Amino acid sequence: MGMLIYTLKVDSVIKETIDTTTICFKQPGLKKVRYKPGQYLTLIFRINGRRYIRPYSFSSAPGIDPTLNITVKRVPGGVVSNHILDRVSVGDMIEVLEPMGDFILDRFADNVSKKYVVLWGSGSGITPLMSIAKFALNSSKYEHVTLVYGNRTFETTIFSEQIKQLQQLHKERFSVWHFYTQAVIDDSNPYIIKGRIEATKVLNIMQAESDFKNANHYICGPVGLKDSVKHELAKLGIASENILAEDFEVTRDPKAFEEIFTQNVILKTGDKELEIEVAKGKSILEAGIDAMIDLSYSCQTGNCLLCKAVLLNGKVKTIGVENLPDDLQSNECLLCCSFPLTANVKLLVKN
Ligand SMILES: Cc1cc2nc3c(=O)[nH]c(=O)nc-3n(C[C@H](O)[C@H](O)[C@H](O)COP(=O)(O)OP(=O)(O)OC[C@H]3O[C@@H](n4cnc5c(N)ncnc54)[C@H](O)[C@@H]3O)c2cc1C
Ligand code: FES
Repeated sequence: MGMLIYTLKVDSVIKETIDTTTICFKQPGLKKVRYKPGQYLTLIFRINGRRYIRPYSFSSAPGIDPTLNITVKRVPGGVVSNHILDRVSVGDMIEVLEPMGDFILDRFADNVSKKYVVLWGSGSGITPLMSIAKFALNSSKYEHVTLVYGNRTFETTIFSEQIKQLQQLHKERFSVWHFYTQAVIDDSNPYIIKGRIEATKVLNIMQAESDFKNANHYICGPVGLKDSVKHELAKLGIASENILAEDFEVTRDPKAFEEIFTQNVILKTGDKELEIEVAKGKSILEAGIDAMIDLSYSCQTGNCLLCKAVLLNGKVKTIGVENLPDDLQSNECLLCCSFPLTANVKLLVKN
């Protein structure tokens, strides 16, 4: 893939909740894996003769946790998440790609003296936020961290103990809001609220409590959360460059597929040309993976650029990503969010 590949040994496995597990990898003895809080690790598996590649955000923080940790939630019917939860055990060797991702703390401008971090997350979206929270609270560069965290119940809340401990350790610098959709709530604690995350409720109080205009916001959770938080922040005049979001999955609007039909597409690698059928609804990357072609990819959300290809012929449509990266040339596209618009699409791809 033209990227650094490491083979990491599983040091320990921690059950977090009924459907979530943390895998802790040993740092290699020689070539240490360097990463930033908020980045992700890409795991490569061979399962029943097929290669699967999936990104998982670090839940550990560099310089704080000795191991490299990822925290995986079981997705019903999901190939890799079930494999990790049911099969991976201490001592296993797992191939990973070097850390990637720009959902990171040092996107903060260096000239901001008081640094406030606001983390918005729900469910497994807590993983990169946990890494960021631990790192920021451990550094004197960050004045205050607020975490707004949505879950179904107390029992399904990942890292509830770790969060409590961090609160005890950093009383004045760490505020946590818990939202629970299905728990019975004792009304005496204003920071524990029934229902989905309500950005307005939090922001009204936060405005009064802290120098909130200087805050940087990190959102990791379902699309609904991202849209509502962004909307509320925009109403308060928070600049969009102070808001970062990470998506674990793309959502594709069915309307965008009206002009897409099942097409054959030619993928050129080196001096080989392979013709594959791209069924309506599948991205060219998904069709290539199904055809057992070892293509280069990780995120499948238009973020990592590993699936970048050159369009040699025909037209493709981008579906699922709001903004394509600036450094993409006009004849380049990302296979994970490209769909054939014409019958003669030919692409130069990487594997
Ligand atoms: C940048 C990035 C960071 C990520 N970090 C984490 C992390 O820290 N922890 C974590 O558990 N996952 C994380 N993910 C998601 C992870 O990479 C996998 O997509 C997820 O584990 C599902 O893979 P699978 O092979 O089990 O499911 P698949 O076999 O790929 O999919 C099975 C079905 O589940 C749906 N699906 C896919 N992903 C999800 C999802 N995340 N939630 C609900 N439904 C889904 C698919 O649409 C499909 O219908 C991250 C994803 C990205 C892009
Ligand atoms: S796989 Fe990451 S941008 Fe396509």
